[in-house]
Amino acid sequence: MANEPREQWGTRLGFVLAAAGSAVGLGNIWRFPYVTGVEGGAAFLIIYIVCIVFIGYPMMVTEISMGRNTLRNPVGAFKALAPNTPWWLIGGLGVLTGFVILSYYSVIAGWSLSYIFKAAAGFPEGIDAADAMFGEHITGLGGPIGYHFVFMVLTAGIIAAGVVKGIQRVVKILMPLLAILLLLVVFRAVTLPGAGEGLAFMFAPDFSAVTPQTFLAAIGQAFFTLSLGMGAIITYGSYLSKKDEVPNSAVQIIGADTAIAVLAGIAIFPAVFALGFEPGAGPGLVFVTLPAVFAEMPAGTLFGFLFFVLLSIAALTSAISLLEVVVAYFVDEKGWPRKQAALVLGAVIFVVGIPPILGYSVWAEAGTFAGDLLDTYDFIADSVMLPFGGALTAFFAGHVWGIKNVSDEANEGAGNLRIGNWIAPFLKYVIPAGVLIVMLFGIYGVVTG
Ligand code: PHE
Repeated sequence: MANEPREQWGTRLGFVLAAAGSAVGLGNIWRFPYVTGVEGGAAFLIIYIVCIVFIGYPMMVTEISMGRNTLRNPVGAFKALAPNTPWWLIGGLGVLTGFVILSYYSVIAGWSLSYIFKAAAGFPEGIDAADAMFGEHITGLGGPIGYHFVFMVLTAGIIAAGVVKGIQRVVKILMPLLAILLLLVVFRAVTLPGAGEGLAFMFAPDFSAVTPQTFLAAIGQAFFTLSLGMGAIITYGSYLSKKDEVPNSAVQIIGADTAIAVLAGIAIFPAVFALGFEPGAGPGLVFVTLPAVFAEMPAGTLFGFLFFVLLSIAALTSAISLLEVVVAYFVDEKGWPRKQAALVLGAVIFVVGIPPILGYSVWAEAGTFAGDLLDTYDFIADSVMLPFGGALTAFFAGHVWGIKNVSDEANEGAGNLRIGNWIAPFLKYVIPAGVLIVMLFGIYGVVTG
């Protein structure tokens, strides 16, 4: 055990900003718009919001409460709540998940960093040129590895500085900046002539586009975007004071995350439609379609630059929460000094992130049924580890720690908004069973192509 007293967020706002910073990331600005585009727009949005309320909210409250109750990293939290049982393995899975997600998350964040400079130099015109630019970038070696390195150095540096002096200080500046930049880009998008079609795509539901796959996509996105199912929120909750409100904070974190995802959609779809591009472009929407859009739009160089700055900021405040899970485990359970943990683990994660980069060039043969190596990492983390961890955590909270303990902890220090009994059936049955079913369908779908 480390001897230093556990740090605490300076204020409740510090916690909410840090947790919202964890939640708001590539998941909101890169993933959410393209999944919405592929899954048909507004109908997906409605299903996604239902998942956010009935899965996201109970899970968010549970994870914050587990952290605050035990003052531990995910492994320590499960050990404290169920001593001498194997339940701590769920926490161990979470630490491993943080490791895997951050290794490729940093690679994508590195693409975003490099696009800041590409945007400033002016994007080439036409979708084919944009496609070629993206292909050329990701199949390189020095560029992607270099930006991945820079991004990991930033992440590890912030974590080494500590919870208050590192994480809290950074999110207090970056989160408001992110909101301002996003509003600027939104304003540009909705004032383009012909933007209305994009808004209609996002807000006028067409339920004929809904398939079973739509539900799977919505649940997976809900976990990923809210940083749930791997202990990031348990870890951040462990630095929260008993005096602070849990249910209210959960609402604010979820509200901020949802607002930013919807705003990202409003920034992207009107521009895509106004300039006659396809909304269903998939993962390339942000790195291929958008640069082509910026190349044609008035003041596109400025707005392209702002967009990739904001994407990189969003990725950074999420990456620090991923590294914090891994670091908190080694600090709490293994007694490592924080700085050493941040540097050593950051370096290891950097190395683990190299194969996905090589997968676009020298290791191009090395793909699996899930796609190339980066797709494979993403699939294992996002479609297997995260939902599995989330389902087990809900089951644990509902049946082992118990609903009464969850609500007592959540309601301590709470003001008007308190957690009600309605979460019980969700934690006990709906989330464990529902998410496992979704996960099995998802794996089956990918394996059988
Ligand atoms: N929520 C982050 C995003 O939307 C990703 C993330 C997942 C961060 C899990 C921490 C833990 O990009």
